[in-house]
Formats: sequence, C-alpha cells, structure tokens
Amino acid sequence: MPNPGLPRHVAIIMDGNGRWAKQHAFSVMMGHRKGVEALREIIRYSSNIGIKVLSLYAFSTENWSRPEAEIAALMRLIVEFFRSEIDELHENKVRIRILGDINALTASARDAVIMAQERTRGNTGMQLNIALNYGARDELIRAVNALIADARDGGSSAEPLTWKDIEHHLYTKGQPDVDLLIRTSGEQRLSNFLLLQSAYAELFFPQKLWPDYTVADYQDALAAYVQRERRFGGRTT
Ligand code: IPE
Ligand code: IPE
Ligand code: MG
Repeated sequence: MPNPGLPRHVAIIMDGNGRWAKQHAFSVMMGHRKGVEALREIIRYSSNIGIKVLSLYAFSTENWSRPEAEIAALMRLIVEFFRSEIDELHENKVRIRILGDINALTASARDAVIMAQERTRGNTGMQLNIALNYGARDELIRAVNALIADARDGGSSAEPLTWKDIEHHLYTKGQPDVDLLIRTSGEQRLSNFLLLQSAYAELFFPQKLWPDYTVADYQDALAAYVQRERRFGGRTT
C-alpha cells in the first residue's frame, strides 16, 4: 500500500543543466551529464517509496532549435543512459514508456528506447515515462488526427467526443493525471509539458538547478504536497 499522502503521478521538468554548467565553467554537456546523475537518484527513490507514475521531461519538441552539437550529444546521452540503467530498472520492475514521437530521434537513440520499452513491458512496478521529442500541443494534434481517422474508418458516429476519447489517444493513456509537478531552476512555466494531464496538478518551483537537485529536496516537495489542499473545483469549507 502506498502512503495515503503520496502523489500517484509525479512529473518533473528537469531544468537548469545549462546554467549549472556555466556556473562551474564547464561545457553544457557536462551539465547534462550531471543532470543524469541527479535523475538516477530521483528515479530510484520514487520507485522505492511506491510512486506509481514518474514522468520526466528530457527533450521537448522545441529543443530541436538548440545547437546541433548539443542535440547530438543529448542523443548520445540517451543511448548511454539506457545502456547503463536498464538492468537496474528492470530488476526493480520499472516499466518504461516514452512520451513523444521517437521517429525523429537518431537511429541509435530510437533503438535504445524501443529496446527499453520492450524489455520492461511486462513489469509491474513504477511506470517511468520519459518525454523525448514531447510537446503537449503535438500530443493533442496527434490525438485529434487519430480521432478524425477513427471516425472516417468507422463511419462518423453521431456521438459528440468526450474527454475519455481524447485521453485514449494521449501518450499517457491509462495513467492517472499528474498530482505533483516540479520544475527546478526557479523558472515558473510549463514549457509545453503534460498540459492536459496537469489540469489539477500541484505545482512546485524549487530554485535549485537540476544537477544540484537531491533526494532531500524531493522529499521537501513531497512533504509540502501533503500539506496542499486539493479542491478540484469543489468546496471543502
Ligand atoms: C534542461 O536543462 C535539460 C534539457 C532541456 C535537455 P537546460 O539545458 O534547459 O538548462 P538551462 O535552462 O539552459 O539552464
Ligand atoms: C523544458 O526546458 C524542457 C526540458 C526540461 C526537457 P527548456 O529549458 O527547454 O524550456 P524553456 O525554453 O526555458 O521554456
Ligand atoms: Mg532550460
């Protein structure tokens, strides 16, 4: 049984790798590498305490506008991440799902994520969503196009579409909504991450840059989450 006050779905916008690198006079890539170390700890801890779904924003549909060398290095980092982590993740029964269109990734990154998804498909532990080439608007466009195609194939039904129909075509199909959304580095925006799934998420914006973010910081966010009063539009007083 998970703790009653534990969020079921935690989403994290891991931001601040570039500023961390600059602070330390390192290359941007060193920032991303340190970022992966932080992420490893947060994944491990989340799985240990019984978080059901953890969603990590790793690469957005807008991140393609970054310098080519940074993009290439990030693609290599994705391959490395899965190569070094997949055994432990699988052992811990973590199930991996990629959110986003993986066709645009480099062939080796695409192969790595397909392999990780396939290998962990039957696992019953924490669901780990990794958002790669993900954007909420892109996700919605895909869902709407899929619904239009369904309607064409099946002959248009007279029934108006419902939220359930849309949800059925999102990358997060079958998963609970985001309860807690954390963005590091002090930026207070969502940058196109899980906009529909976060409709009633509690938002946290810690100042720390992602490579400096620790399990203790994460515990602070989880403790603060328990204190929040979630009303979902209703009235409790
Ligand atoms: C977030 O760190 C990681 C990715 C977008 C891949 P940034 O690279 O955005 O770090 P800042 O915002 O420049 O500090
Ligand atoms: C959001 O961070 C994307 C990821 C963390 C992967 P960005 O650094 O790309 O977002 P903006 O440009 O500051 O909004
Ligand atoms: Mg950033």
